[in-house]
Parts: sequence; structure tokens; C-alpha cells
Amino acid sequence: MIAPEYQRPKGTRDVIAPESWQFEAMRRLALDLAARYGYDPIETPIFEQSPVFLRVGESTDIVQHESYRFVDVGGDDLTLRPEGTAAVARAYVQLGLATAPQPVRLCYFGPMFRRERPAAGRYRQHTQFGVECYGSEAPEADAEVILLAMQVVDAAGLKDPQVRLNSLGCAVCRPRYREALIAYYTDRRSELCDDCQVRLNQNPLRLLDCKVDVGIRQQAPDIQDYWCDGCRTHFDRLTGILAASGRHVTRDKHLVRGLDYYTRTVFEVGHPSLGDQVALFGGGRYDGLTASLGGPSVPAVGFGMGIERLLSALPQALATPEPRRVYCAHLPGFAERAFLLAEALRRQGIAAEADILNRSLKAQLKDAGRRASVAVIVGGQEWDQGQVVVKDLAAGRQITVDRTELLTYLAADGEEQEDSRNT
Ligand code: HAM
Repeated sequence: MIAPEYQRPKGTRDVIAPESWQFEAMRRLALDLAARYGYDPIETPIFEQSPVFLRVGESTDIVQHESYRFVDVGGDDLTLRPEGTAAVARAYVQLGLATAPQPVRLCYFGPMFRRERPAAGRYRQHTQFGVECYGSEAPEADAEVILLAMQVVDAAGLKDPQVRLNSLGCAVCRPRYREALIAYYTDRRSELCDDCQVRLNQNPLRLLDCKVDVGIRQQAPDIQDYWCDGCRTHFDRLTGILAASGRHVTRDKHLVRGLDYYTRTVFEVGHPSLGDQVALFGGGRYDGLTASLGGPSVPAVGFGMGIERLLSALPQALATPEPRRVYCAHLPGFAERAFLLAEALRRQGIAAEADILNRSLKAQLKDAGRRASVAVIVGGQEWDQGQVVVKDLAAGRQITVDRTELLTYLAADGEEQEDSRNT
């Protein structure tokens, strides 16, 4: 095959049926469960003024090197959103949601853009389901978002997600830890990989994330020895609540995150089918974000879940709505009547389609076999007698039905099929 002249950008995907229905089913499942926890959907623009993201990730790869940043013809400096949290925080501040009754629980489902090196499960445009809970610093809020994410994973049919949890401390205790970490790594500077040499100067916590210098990080100071009383209590209560709710989590002393705004709780969830380099979802607490965007200081916590990754890990496809498609086929000269019958059925809530290629009856029935469960044949002497032939395409049976009874017949037959599917 000759490569077409125009191709989709590297690291992006075209999603067509049946997979596109999987995305739709996932969106419904996620938003329904979020609603069960009290989360309302929010839609923010897909692009923001660049400083919204720059403020929250000056030393991160996601913002520094992977963002789709551009100046539009009006001279505005804009960035396609690489993630949802900063965008939702901007909206929370701009819309004055801090003056609304708290907590404010928000969720979203949509595309994010990062110019990463394409690899398995890593795209330049990916879809995230995310939630953000504003207004509570209690560990119950952290537990709530983690439990919600776990329910989504459960409901999608994925078993054994592996939850790793850590606390990055707060403005009181983190600076002391940071110093200890810098001292430890400075002593070993000559042994560090090139990336870690840079991390040591710019973002020392990310040293713990290095997949190369794993031997060195084993002996690195552990943040838990530096937590202040508040951070320790918060972490202990959170793990207590999660354990009491029957969810198994493990502490990972090396877990930091790829974004700058986290305080205290951070978590990442993986799955054996994805390998250990890619996470199913991740998130944490970010009590300083609204203030750094010029708003009031409001505690918040949330997560983002990669939908492409979740769908690829599912052992079984999600159930999608199965429209019972009626195919209105026509004998020569009856094309318009078949078309109008299909429209009449659709107005009554029955999924129906008619031939719009003016094909022979044989070709129509072949097409119907691929697309529908029932064919209604319009025309012939049955039509003159006020009837139509209804053909069950799976069973190969056919009967003649009065046109005035057609709707009742199809509706009843549809229910029967539904019942047999459910038994
Ligand atoms: P994140 O860990 O950068 O966090 O992304 C969240 C999830 O999005 C990841 O766990 C992964 O499943 C998916 N993801 C990220 N990048 C890609 C990619 N290139 N291709 C496919 N999937 C990807 C955040 O974005 C935070 N905003 C999460 C958060 C919400 N924290 C607090 N609230």
C-alpha cells in the first residue's frame, strides 16, 4: 500500500468503532461513578494561557520540554493542556468557587497533550479521566479520590491494581528533607547519570525517580524520617482509612511525581499488564496550587487516569449499548418508502437504517446481515396488501407482518432478544 500523503501526527491515534464505543462506555462509567461520589463534570478549554502551566511545573519535563506551546496570530502565548489539574485550578480561582460551599468536587474526561517520545502506552495526545476535590485537608478527602479511582478500575473489570503511596511532606518538613537529599547526592555526584546531575540542581526530589541510579537511591535518606507531626498523622490516618475500606496499598519511599505542585499525599497505580514504567492513574494533594495561581489558599487533592492505558489493560471489552438495528430493505421502486419507514421507526425509538446506495435486494440483504439483526423488506405484493416481510437475520426465519402491527412486533421482538441476552 502506498503511504497516504497526509498522516496523523506521530504519537496520536484515530479511534474508530468498535473501540470508539469503548471510549464512550468508559466515559459513562467514569462519570456515573464520579456522580455517585458527588463529583460534577467541568469542561475547561483545551488550551490555556501558557503561564497557567508554567506556574505549576517550571522544573518538570511535562511543562518545560513536552508542552505544545504556541503564539497565536493575536500574539497570545498559549499551551495545549498537558494535564487537567492546573486548568481546573485556574477555573476554580477565576469562577470564585472558593466562596461556594466547600468541598467543591469536580471531574473531567478529555484529551491532554504532551510531546513525549512515543512508546507503548505513551501518546502525544491521551485521554484522562480526572477528579479534583477542593476545600478539605482531611485525609478522608485523599481516601475519597483514591477509592473513587479504584471503583472505576473495578467497574471496568480490571483486577489487582497496585497502589503505591507516599507523602512528600509540607512546607515545614520538606525543606529539611530536601537539604538532606542534596547533601547525600552531592557526595556521590561523580557516580550520577547525566539526567541526575541536572536534577540535583533543579529538582532534587526527582533524583529518587531515576531508573538508572537505582543502587544509589536505595541508601538515600527516607522522607518519612523527616515528616513533621502533621504530615505523619495525615499519612497514618490515610493508610488507616484505606486499609479499613479493604484496599491494599503499599508505601513506596521512592515515589515522587512528574509535576511540581504536590504536597503531602502522592500516589501512583500500576498494573502488571502495563509494565512498571507506565501508570494507570496517579495523583495526590496539592494544597498550594490555587494560591500560586493568584487565588486564595485552598487545600485540594485529585487524580488523573489514562483511559487508553486502562482500556488496553482490560481483560474483556466493556459492555456497549447494542442498538438493535433494523434494516429497511426495498424492492425496486420502493427505495423512498423504505427510507421513510426507517425514519418512522427511528422516531419511535427503534434504531433503523435504510439502503442509501440504491442496491439490489440481494446486495441489501448481504449488507443487512453485517449491520442489523432484522430486515424489513418493503415492496412486492405484501406491500400492496398492507404488509411487510420481516426477516430474522440470525435465525434466517421470516414472517409477514401487517404494517400497522410492525412497530408492536419489532418492539416485542426486541424485548425477547434482550431477555435472551440477559439469561
Ligand atoms: P500524570 O501522572 O502526569 O498526572 O497523568 C495521569 C495519568 O495520565 C497517568 O497515570 C497515565 O495513566 C496517563 N498519562 C499521562 N501521560 C500519558 C501519555 N503520554 N500517554 C498515555 N497516558 C498518559 C496528572 O496529569 C495530574 N494532573 C493528576 C492529578 C490530578 N493530580 C492531582 N489531580
